[in-house]
Amino acid sequence: MLRLVSLTCLLSILLPLVSAAGPRALPFGHAPDAKRFNFGSTKVRGVNIGGWLVAEPFITPSLFQAGGDSRIVDEYTFGQYSKKACSLLASHWKTWITESDFKAISAAGLNTVRIPIGYWAFDSDYAPYCQGSQFSYLTKAVGWAQKYGLKVVIDLHGAPASQNGFDNSGHRRTSPGWFNVQSRADRAQAAISTMAKKFSTSAYGDTVSAIELLNEPLTTANIGGALEFTIDYYESAYSSVRYAQGKKSPTSQAVMIHDGFQDLSRWYNELQPPTYQNVVLDHHQYSIFTPTQVAWNQTTRLNDICTYRSKLANAQSHLWTIVGEWTSANTDCAMWLNGRGRGSRYEGQYDNSPKIGNCSSKTGNGANFSSAFKTQLKQLFDTQRDVYETGSGWIYWTWKTESASEWSYQDGLKYGWITNNLDSEGSVEC
Ligand SMILES: *[C@@H]1O[C@H](CO)[C@@H](O)[C@H](O)[C@H]1NC(C)=O
Ligand SMILES: *[C@@H]1O[C@H](CO)[C@@H](O)[C@H](O)[C@H]1NC(C)=O
Ligand SMILES: *[C@@H]1O[C@H](CO)[C@@H](O)[C@H](O)[C@H]1NC(C)=O
Repeated sequence: MLRLVSLTCLLSILLPLVSAAGPRALPFGHAPDAKRFNFGSTKVRGVNIGGWLVAEPFITPSLFQAGGDSRIVDEYTFGQYSKKACSLLASHWKTWITESDFKAISAAGLNTVRIPIGYWAFDSDYAPYCQGSQFSYLTKAVGWAQKYGLKVVIDLHGAPASQNGFDNSGHRRTSPGWFNVQSRADRAQAAISTMAKKFSTSAYGDTVSAIELLNEPLTTANIGGALEFTIDYYESAYSSVRYAQGKKSPTSQAVMIHDGFQDLSRWYNELQPPTYQNVVLDHHQYSIFTPTQVAWNQTTRLNDICTYRSKLANAQSHLWTIVGEWTSANTDCAMWLNGRGRGSRYEGQYDNSPKIGNCSSKTGNGANFSSAFKTQLKQLFDTQRDVYETGSGWIYWTWKTESASEWSYQDGLKYGWITNNLDSEGSVEC
């Protein structure tokens, strides 16, 4: 009977109904904002550009060693303890990631890069951080992405006084200082606003698919009101992305929000339509950062990953949901992964963990990995990419590392546990 009705006419009747039934339902008459990237129908397959515009000790240990002071554990202490901080970081930005990386990422069958950047690239009160050309490198990177047909998720990875205390927020500290200080939220939002204004102009086409308001706010820290403060920030900063070009012309950039280490179900009633449109929830999945989890064998680790099939499918009917960070690595053995000067849980040197085993065969140069270890890495890669496509897709952490191949997408391709045929079945264990 289809043929009796004009197709255009039929679609115009059915499409609003379909979208109203699915996630991110839009009010009738409101054009769907899927122009840049349709998180509801296309799977994100991406890689993080980690350790570039926010340097991390475990990704480029040589950069931190070059600082010449063992107190340099993050970008904040880099600025404090090295007179050469700005020149070392400037040459790092210039060399660590170049156009050829974007070409290789595209050739690997990926469609997205997620690029972390810290607030200190934008803020007038940045000291002791080095404020240099981070924003112009981000802009260059958006241009490279555009050239090679990749989408970009921009991610604010560090907020004033740190939202989690991790070294990768720029400032390693015992307790995050960002929560409950409104001026710090305002400064994070100002950084978001600067980026949203720039990348929603026509010069950058549809390249920036989403802007993530804040990476990994540790809302589970023992700080009263941390989650509520974060949700208030999300609702406020949403407007800076959505209305970057004014209230009358909403942009089509999606707004990405990290789950704050809460159960995904905590977000089922937050930032919902019709008030909030084009919101994507970001979950990070690691099972190596507690003594219990790092002790898991391959079977237990894979079984845990497999529970995300239903978790993501459920979340997906409330907010589009991606796994924006994950890894094939199955230990915390990589040097300085837990912070410069700290050992691993796996060898019983950190976090009151009992010794599980010897790290020497679990990290380092992938050329030396045993075939049994590479088989494990492949199972972990293939199972996760498959499971995470139950949601809106995935972004691997991270594209490259200096000396920890088990974390490097580039090395996984080179040594064979990562495939460039992402439609192939591979070693999916559930
Ligand atoms: C993995 O660990 C689980 C739980 O401790 C155990 O039941 C299982 O036998 C282990 N599997 C292997 C292959 O060692
Ligand atoms: C781990 O194994 C290597 C090589 O087999 C050995 O040289 C090293 O001492 C061992 N390390 C620990 C902490 O047991
Ligand atoms: C690892 O591989 C590199 C390069 O192939 C080699 O130079 C090095 O000696 C190897 N290291 C070990 C511990 O086998």
